[in-house]
Amino acid sequence: MVVTTRTRSPIRSNVGLKAVMAVTGIILVLFLIAHMLGNLKVFTGATSFDHYAHWLRDIGKPVLPGVWFLWIQRGVLTVAVLAHIAAATVLARRSRAARPVRYAHRPKVQGSYAARTMRWGGVIILLFVIYHLLDLTTGHLNPVGDPSKPYSNVVADFAPERWYVTLFYTLAIVALGFHLRHGAFSAFRSLGQQTPRGEARARAAALVFAVALSAGFLVVPFAVLTGLVS
Ligand code: HEM
Repeated sequence: MVVTTRTRSPIRSNVGLKAVMAVTGIILVLFLIAHMLGNLKVFTGATSFDHYAHWLRDIGKPVLPGVWFLWIQRGVLTVAVLAHIAAATVLARRSRAARPVRYAHRPKVQGSYAARTMRWGGVIILLFVIYHLLDLTTGHLNPVGDPSKPYSNVVADFAPERWYVTLFYTLAIVALGFHLRHGAFSAFRSLGQQTPRGEARARAAALVFAVALSAGFLVVPFAVLTGLVS
């Protein structure tokens, strides 16, 4: 009889996959922090916001030609999103396979609640990003839709008569907030003290971080909706 032993590469172990989730999560969070802070420039007026958006496309010049930095960033973000989803899917499948009989009398298990929210939150965020790219990057779904005029695109997007766009953005950003709260809590808990006090601190820090980031994103559509930015 021939016995074959399949050795799993370390990255495909549970610890390896969790490291993939953490590293890709950090890359995505760094992008989100920079993007949120950049969006706040909308309060400095059209000229300044458009100038900033054009500068983003020029980062790396003259060391890198043309819009290379932008495309490198897009490549890194795409790989990070795909790896984050792939690692999450494998980990979720493994944890389900490890518990073939579902809990009959404990429907409100903390872990499964978090896993469900993360899964559906992740799906909403992914659908939002696809819509968002067609809206504000390519301009296909935007009333102005001119990639050289990001300020006008943003103002047209969240005009009061298009309240449903603001509503959709709000739902997606709230989903993003929940997703980030759980992700940040897992990260802070692993890094901090493994005590009830350490856990409470990690929970509070994750909540503050998620609320600050979500609020930073949400002020822009609501400023346009209420006429503060026009
Ligand atoms: C209300 C909140 C937001 C506003 C006003 C906003 C605004 C914008 C604008 C104006 C652009 C186009 C920049 C340009 O091409 O010059 C953009 C691009 C982008 N946004 Fe947002 N954004 C928001 C939230 C988000 C969120 C929550 C995410 C991710 C979950 C996100 C991900 C992206 C990505 C991936 C790009 C494409 C960057 C590229 O061109 O490579 N945005 N956003």
